[in-house]
Order: sequence, then C-alpha cells, then structure tokens
Amino acid sequence: MNIGIIGSGGREHAICSNLNNSEKINKIYCIPGNAGTDEIATNIDINLNDFEKINQLVLEKNIDLLIVGPEQPLVDGIVDFFENLGVKIFGPNKAASQLEGSKIFTKKICQKYNIPTANFGIFNNKDESNKFLISANYPLVIKADGLAAGKGVYICENIEMAYTAVNEIFGGKFGETKNLLVEEFLTGEEMSYFVISDGNSFKTFETAQDHKRVFEGDKGKNTGGMGAYSPSRLINNVLNEKIIKKIIEPTFAALKDLEIEYKGFLYAGLMIKNDEPFLIEYNVRMGDPECQTILPKLNTDLADIFLSCCNKKLNEIDIEWGKKKSMCIVLCSKGYPETFEKNIIIQNFEKINLDNENLCFHAGTTKKNKEIMSNGGRVLNFVTLSENFLDARNKIIKNINLLNWKNGHFRKDIGYKVIDQ
Ligand code: AMP
Ligand code: GLY
Repeated sequence: MNIGIIGSGGREHAICSNLNNSEKINKIYCIPGNAGTDEIATNIDINLNDFEKINQLVLEKNIDLLIVGPEQPLVDGIVDFFENLGVKIFGPNKAASQLEGSKIFTKKICQKYNIPTANFGIFNNKDESNKFLISANYPLVIKADGLAAGKGVYICENIEMAYTAVNEIFGGKFGETKNLLVEEFLTGEEMSYFVISDGNSFKTFETAQDHKRVFEGDKGKNTGGMGAYSPSRLINNVLNEKIIKKIIEPTFAALKDLEIEYKGFLYAGLMIKNDEPFLIEYNVRMGDPECQTILPKLNTDLADIFLSCCNKKLNEIDIEWGKKKSMCIVLCSKGYPETFEKNIIIQNFEKINLDNENLCFHAGTTKKNKEIMSNGGRVLNFVTLSENFLDARNKIIKNINLLNWKNGHFRKDIGYKVIDQ
C-alpha cells in the first residue's frame, strides 16, 4: 500500500516513522515533509491548499491512503474533496472540523448537551464586548472564533488587556471576525486526551500532558508545545469514565444529531480540577508534540488502525500500548515563539544515540547540500521510552547535549510535576 502524509511537522515525521515499520506499507510520500521524513520517505513540495495538485500526485504515484496531520487543510475541506473522488483519506470532514475551526460551534454544543466547560459569552461587536468587560471578574479569557495558529487566545489579567484583545480580534488580526468569545478563566491542570473514531464508534488513544510555555517553570510566552509526557499524571479509571460520559459521548451524540460524521483523531484539551474534567477546546487532529510522545508506545500496526477507520471497522481492532513511560523534549530555535534565525546548520547528528526507545523526530528542518538546516521555530523532537520519566528525561538531555547546536533552546524541566511529585 502507498501512503501520502500531509504536513511537515514533528507529528507527521512520527506518523511517517511509525508507518515505515509496517509491513503493509510500500511507499510513503510526505507532502511536503521535512529533512527527517526525507530519510525514510519521498518528500513532495506541494502547497497544502492545492488539493488538485495533491490529487495529481495521488494518481501519479497510486497513493491508496492519505493521512492529514494539521488542522488547516481539514478545516478547508480536504477530506470532502478526496472522498468525493473516491480516495481514502484519514481525518474529519469539513463539517466535523468545525469542532476546531469554530470555537463558538463547540461552545454551543457544550451548552446544548451539558458538556462541562468554562462559562462563556459570545459578542459580535466591540461596544457590547467592552460594556461587558467593565463589570466582569478577572482574569478572564478572550478568544477569536476561528483558527489562529494557536495565537487567538488571550488570558486577560485586567480590563486593559481585555480591551487590547477585543481591539486586536475585531481589528482583523486573525482574519475577518464576526464574533468573539469571552470565557471564565478555569483553574486546574491541563491534560491532552485523544480518541480515534471511524464515524460509527470510537476508541481511546492514550493521554499526555504538554508544556506550552517557552521557559522553565512554565514561564514566558505560549508556544505550540515545548515537550510532553505520556501517560498524563492525572488519568485514572474514574476520571477516564467521567471524560467519556460527560464530554466525548455527548459530543459524538451532538454530531450525530447534526448528521455530521466524525472520522479521525479527536483531541480534547481538558482542564482537570478536583478530579472533574472541563473541556477547554477541541482539536480535530493529533497534538504536536503529543503525537511524537504517544506513537512510540503503540504496539498495534498504525496502518491497520487508519484503514479500519476509513473502512468503518474500528470495532474489529484492538489498540494495544506498551507499558513504558514516554517523554518528548522539543529543541527549538532561540527566540521562538517570537523572532528567530533560520537556515542555521545543525551538526553532530551522527553523535546522538538513537534506537527503538530513543527517537528523534524532525519538525522545522530542511536539507541543503547534505547538511541539515533549521527552517522553523520548533526544530527537533527527542523522544525516549523508559520505566520512569526521570530516566527518560536524563537520556534525552544527554542526546541534545551531544548535538551541541548553539542556536537551540530547550526546557530541561519537562515533566517536572510528575518527576518531582
Ligand atoms: P486553546 O487554543 O483554546 O487551547 O487555548 C490555549 C491555551 O490557553 C490552553 O491550552 C490553556 O492553557 C489556555 N486557556 C484557554 N482557555 C482557557 C480557560 N477558559 N481558562 C484557563 N485557561 C485557558
Ligand atoms: N500541543 C498542542 C497542540 O497540538 O495543539
């Protein structure tokens, strides 16, 4: 079977690397991929919104199954496009992708189906929003409705910050905006919870916790994720049952009532407070770096899982996991998530120790004249499986130090809550 993987991050390299171990897979094409996927697959540089051109590749290379990593093409309807052509594609369709593409769509479902989430208000103009902000309690959270590459969320400590958020969102910073969302600020600890669905049934797909802030001690700006560990330290059978009954099942019931089919990964960003789950947001894809963290623990053939979803036979397959803990530390370019230099050579790859339990997934890398260069904010993902998180972290840090990339920055405290507890 030939596979096409859409995306270029660490998540897509982790998917590519896992599928590369499957005996069912013949060739893998990564669209556009990175220097890591280039080692094990064929990278093809096509713009992700050019579905016609991707289809030419599908026909030319006899691609049997497409797998979509990032949210933008899903929200843009890539799944509908290829399903209409009779091409197998793993991921939710455009209607289902509203769960990530419109925060207001999700909030309305939460309201109607009693899914625990932060209290909220929807505002469609600046004056109404600002009037509300005068009598509101702080901190509160203001969000742009649509996709904003992780940047459309403002945690506002006071009214001045809130005014700025409203101005920026209605000012068009995240594209044309009809509505914004004002939310109660939730306290507790965050957890990433994943399920996979074939449209008829779903199965859980492990848990993780990621560290979003750029500096140690969870300080500094929010990033796409500086590292993660799996399983989450918060998960237990009772909490798992609550998440399924109070959040996941009502969400699938709501989609069914709307006659929307959901096929693909569903990622619930949760806040856990006193053992109770609250939905912060949905993503219609795997997390990054959670995917890199979770997939190395998978003992079931990933190609079988994707195919069973596309064939609506997920109930016929058991998803099995290794018992070891997994940690991922992200090596990013100094300055990320703000300004950083690109095209800097990364040397000493040959010195790092990699095997089945010590992995390195590329993200923002590219190859020029056989040299590997950085070309993004998050550059490499080091993942280690171990009996305990501290050992995993120590092994990763040793490897990153062997790489000795002067332009790199990483957090040495990933998993501190689970290690120091
Ligand atoms: P989102 O893009 O909605 O996941 O938001 C990004 C991050 O903002 C989340 O991972 C949380 O850390 C934080 N956040 C979003 N909404 C809330 C909320 N209502 N209360 C507290 N923190 C929030
Ligand atoms: N790790 C957060 C995300 O993938 O959105």
